[in-house]
Amino acid sequence: MIKYMVIGDPIAHSRSPGMQNAAFEFHGLGSPYGIRHVRPDELGGFIEFARANLKGVNLTVPHKAAVIPYLDTVDPAAEAAGSVNTLIIENGRIHGASTDGYGLEHALLENFSRPLAGAGVTFIGAGGAAHATAFHLAALGVKAIRIANRTVAKADEIAEKLRLHPALFVETARPDDSATLARWFADTDFLIQATSLGLKAGDPAPFDLALLKPELKLCIFDTIYKPTPLLAKARELRLPVADGAAMLIHQGAKSFELWTGLSAPLDAMRRGFLEAQPC
Ligand code: ATR
Repeated sequence: MIKYMVIGDPIAHSRSPGMQNAAFEFHGLGSPYGIRHVRPDELGGFIEFARANLKGVNLTVPHKAAVIPYLDTVDPAAEAAGSVNTLIIENGRIHGASTDGYGLEHALLENFSRPLAGAGVTFIGAGGAAHATAFHLAALGVKAIRIANRTVAKADEIAEKLRLHPALFVETARPDDSATLARWFADTDFLIQATSLGLKAGDPAPFDLALLKPELKLCIFDTIYKPTPLLAKARELRLPVADGAAMLIHQGAKSFELWTGLSAPLDAMRRGFLEAQPC
């Protein structure tokens, strides 16, 4: 019986059912996690269905912000980020949380042996992914967050809220402002590629890749989990690099723990994620 679900529009590409059911099966709990295509105008109806029938929901594009008005309670961190990717449903009440920042944090820790406290972080992109994760990194005590986005106003919007962290240094720019990016990269420990570029074959690079030099000390994390020009260039230069799979696995692991109180079997979830064929 389906008691958990991932929803989005589109949703067919999601590997969450394979990953989450691997975790439930590991604990002998069957395969209770399903998938549903929910369009924006269907969200309210779906939430009422979930309230009566489900124990947990994961949300992806375009629902992470839109769902907030429907919830009974929201984690303060998710509220600050304006982004919810996990619903926990108990006795007809719905609580919203965001596990994306936790996912990015643990993906960085797993892939790069470098502390986050005091680190310089540069985001390329200011959409949902950057919004959901930047606040989590700020709360962990990174020293600087710089955001480059094609639409600078969206980067400025995140920056304004991040400046509520008094010790955090915050800057914004356009990704084609190569002089600024070169200056940032010299002071960057973690470069987070958080645009949607790379999802489609033939997508251009999110900034001039000639700015990447082998002597830079940055670790590169692409939130996309397909081969991208950025990942290829980073590997060619032998810079430390990782793709978005680890972030998805860790955000899913945290959702699983919030729902069940059980420890997430990371190896099983990783296998479930890698083996999952988008349906
Ligand atoms: P997600 O939830 O994956 O972050 P999103 O909220 O739609 O998705 O955000 C997409 C991000 O990719 C944004 O930073 C967007 O830039 P804009 O804010 O300027 O739209 C970026 N992006 C998408 N297509 C792009 C393109 N062709 N060139 C540059 N940036 C692009």
